[in-house]
Amino acid sequence: MKTLLITGASKGIGFKTAQRFADSGFRVINISRTPAPDDRIENHSVDLSLSDTQEQLDELLDLILDPGEICLVHNAAKLVNDRVGDTDPDSLQDILTINVLAPNILNQLVVPKMTAGSSIIYVGSTLAEKAVPASHSYVVSKHAIVGMMRATCQDLVGRQIHTACICPGFTDTEMLRTHVGGDESVINAISATCAYNRLVNPDEIATAIEFAANNPVINGAVIHANLGQIER
Ligand SMILES: NC(=O)c1ccc[n+]([C@@H]2O[C@H](COP(=O)([O-])OP(=O)(O)OC[C@H]3O[C@@H](n4cnc5c(N)ncnc54)[C@H](OP(=O)(O)O)[C@@H]3O)[C@@H](O)[C@H]2O)c1
Repeated sequence: MKTLLITGASKGIGFKTAQRFADSGFRVINISRTPAPDDRIENHSVDLSLSDTQEQLDELLDLILDPGEICLVHNAAKLVNDRVGDTDPDSLQDILTINVLAPNILNQLVVPKMTAGSSIIYVGSTLAEKAVPASHSYVVSKHAIVGMMRATCQDLVGRQIHTACICPGFTDTEMLRTHVGGDESVINAISATCAYNRLVNPDEIATAIEFAANNPVINGAVIHANLGQIER
């Protein structure tokens, strides 16, 4: 049986992705602090921001993950409002730990167990290739994720493991709604920047992740999944 190992599937994009892979017959393993509300998903509580994350994941994956065809999805992330002039170093370190270092730890633990046909799908963002004001640490971390994906492609040549970075646009999840302070007028304004005048549905991103995972021809690719953002 193929395995999906995903971070941050307790809600939002990760949850929809986990459900989609479960529908396709995958064993689904989620790593997040709170569980995904679906009995088909195996939940393992790990806080990816902690200094002992590596030891915890090493011990856990040694026990639960056998070699085989594995799709590893780096989805968990943290977003804060900060700017270049006021970014607290501890806060930046926290963001980088969750958004960048955790994928690195997981790659080192999981790639040795991956057989041909496996994949590593990174969840980036529109902000992986452009910046907006007041998301400084997040922009830095998401640009790093694109670099990690491209390096992953180059370093795994010959292994028949493919990789891609799916970059969601404004997607209707807790992360976005918290970021805008739950303000519906901001949600409407954000929706108006999109060619379809609506937010992306998390299930649409799950579809894009599954598509990339199923198609090795997509290797080393950055795929923007944002319904078309209007350039002004
Ligand atoms: N929503 C958007 O508009 C949007 C746009 C572009 C990119 N993205 C990207 O899409 C991905 C998913 O975001 P989302 O919108 O679905 O967000 P979400 O609904 O807030 O979900 C975030 C997930 O990350 C997990 N997580 C956060 N901190 C964690 C930690 N310290 N340890 C372990 N797990 C942690 C959360 O699980 P627990 O809280 O249970 O730990 C949760 O399952 C992220 O990479 C995000 O950057 C989202």
